[in-house]
Amino acid sequence: MSTSKLTRIDPLPRPLDGSIHVPGDKSISHRSILFSAMAEGTSRVSGVLDSEDVRSTIGAVTALGAEVNLEKMPDGSLQGGVTGWGAAGPKQPTEPIYCGNSGTTVRLLMGVLAPWDIRVTLTGDASLCKRPMRRIALPLTKMGASFEPVGQDTLPITEVGNPNLHAITYDMPVSSAQLKTAVMLAGLSCEGTTEVHEPSPSRNHTELMLPQFGAETVAARGMASVTGPVTLQASEVVVPGDPSSAAFLVCAALLRPGSRIQVENVSLNVARIGFTRTLERMGADIALTTQGHSGKEPYGIISASYTDTLRGCEIPAEKIAGLIDEVPVLSLVAAHAKGITVFRNVSELRVKESDRLQAIIDGLGKLGVSAWAEGDDLYIEGNPDLQTPDDLVFDSLGDHRLAMTWSLVGLCGDKPVHIDNFESVAVSFPGFLSQFDRLVSE
Ligand code: S3P
Repeated sequence: MSTSKLTRIDPLPRPLDGSIHVPGDKSISHRSILFSAMAEGTSRVSGVLDSEDVRSTIGAVTALGAEVNLEKMPDGSLQGGVTGWGAAGPKQPTEPIYCGNSGTTVRLLMGVLAPWDIRVTLTGDASLCKRPMRRIALPLTKMGASFEPVGQDTLPITEVGNPNLHAITYDMPVSSAQLKTAVMLAGLSCEGTTEVHEPSPSRNHTELMLPQFGAETVAARGMASVTGPVTLQASEVVVPGDPSSAAFLVCAALLRPGSRIQVENVSLNVARIGFTRTLERMGADIALTTQGHSGKEPYGIISASYTDTLRGCEIPAEKIAGLIDEVPVLSLVAAHAKGITVFRNVSELRVKESDRLQAIIDGLGKLGVSAWAEGDDLYIEGNPDLQTPDDLVFDSLGDHRLAMTWSLVGLCGDKPVHIDNFESVAVSFPGFLSQFDRLVSE
């Protein structure tokens, strides 16, 4: 492991205390920019997350002809207008579109591009170029788009759109909101109803937000559909805070004795807050208060207080999609709980920004905690008396959620830790450490 980019994370001087906002939701931010770019007219967006991943989406739609005029607000969010290409369609870009580290950018774009008579090469960073894309290309090919090289799973891939796509009904082999969204976005141009069925419910922001842009959707449990053809019309999106970012603060409060925090203005979409239910089942002192709705998205407050007796629990396969991005940090909490925690069928963790399943097992091993995989299930044998060993170094593998997870070992414990490639937090949560500074200084 290279030691050139090690960041030292010191224990917090005091318990976490007070109220805080987290940056805008990453999934909703991507969709607000993309749907605005596809729409006729100028949409207004606010609360948009200013992170590397969302910048990848902004860069991509700009290369395709949308006009993005966003300014940075004092709270760090982006706000402003996006003028879309509407019925005229995206323009042929002159170069490959670079999607950085962002799976959401590239996979959603594959759906966006499918109905247009253009040819676009999509690529990304080393991590993104290892992630599976055939799962998206397969249904889009059934609809009429084509991909070169044929059958290739990894980027770079060239997509050749087709203005005569046809609607399909698709049984998704995995629960993935990115896959569901790509099919639905392609379905907007098709005559009739495009329907997707998923093994268990994944996040539903697409089916909730598209009607604001004039598309007719159905959002049911494990099923979503869109009826076309329809040209999206400009709208307004106010992005609430990201529950996946809030999860790190909430878990930190549960691990640092004496803490008591409230995360405000955060999305309370049930497809996203599965982690709060898991923590509750572990015995955590946690509560949700709904404050209102932004479009069809509920938002409110997550309150959490340090809890000294946490116990392991079993998370069934059908709940995993609702907390997939929180498995790393929940695993760290499980490492401090009494008894065994089992996450059923977390095979998707293997194809995230890194192989998170192996990374969790390796990282918890450094802490002296037994964690192992049996088939696609993850087991963690917790230890409420866990002590941080001296001189711990974690490799984030350039994965933002691993960087934040391992930083909690240093922040909430009594010994510093070092993290390789900690800067990757900028992918989803710029200013991550400053949030902790704020919560210990109030
Ligand atoms: C996302 C869907 C999830 C999630 C990712 C964001 C989205 O991925 O892990 O961080 O915005 O649709 P999958 O669709 O691969 O499960």
